[in-house]
Amino acid sequence: MASKPIDVRKRELYSTDQFYFPQGYEGIKGVLISKGELNSRIRRISEELMEDYKNRNPIFLGVMTGVIHFFSSLLLDTENLNFPFEYHFVRAASYEGTNRNKLKLQTPDLETLRGKDVIIVEDIVDSGYTLAGIQEYLGDVPKSLEFCVMLDKRDKRIVKEINPKYVGFIIPDHFVIGYGLDYNDKYRNFPHIAVLEKYVYSSGE
Ligand code: IMP
Ligand code: MG
Repeated sequence: MASKPIDVRKRELYSTDQFYFPQGYEGIKGVLISKGELNSRIRRISEELMEDYKNRNPIFLGVMTGVIHFFSSLLLDTENLNFPFEYHFVRAASYEGTNRNKLKLQTPDLETLRGKDVIIVEDIVDSGYTLAGIQEYLGDVPKSLEFCVMLDKRDKRIVKEINPKYVGFIIPDHFVIGYGLDYNDKYRNFPHIAVLEKYVYSSGE
């Protein structure tokens, strides 16, 4: 049973001087979700997965690279999830330009996934093209397929069929960083989910 995601679309940002805030980061407008809140919500989703998948030897498939923080607290913190499962990773890169929904995928051998209960774990779903591309590639190889995402930018969805079962938070249409999420490979290790100032991503383009 998956619980209802926490909807933070109308939340005011926490000011950066109200939290523990690592030194040296610039261009952060405010904190949307603190690390403490993330941890508690992720722990809850772990329990739901344990309930739903125990005795099924599922395979978790993480989408690199942004998922790494979410993946490890969701699945590798043994206090959270403690039953037999396998995990693998896929790498997904989308082509820019005319083929914006064309994905280049690096995946484990499909035979590894055949007949298995597979859960795709992703940091954030936006248009839905990435998850739709992975789903299409896997086809009917797995016995079952679900999505588990930390953040859902639901208002930006283009592929309407992509409705992850396990969702941490529904967030507004802002560019967010932290807890694995990056802007040009920066800010991944920022501890909270935060919104960037526009000047950061409008300069240099
Ligand atoms: P989609 O294919 O449009 O659903 O986008 C999913 C991918 O876009 C994610 O795996 C992220 O890598 C990236 N992405 C989308 N929104 C954000 C954001 O606000 N911050 C950082 N990365 C994002
Ligand atoms: Mg990603």
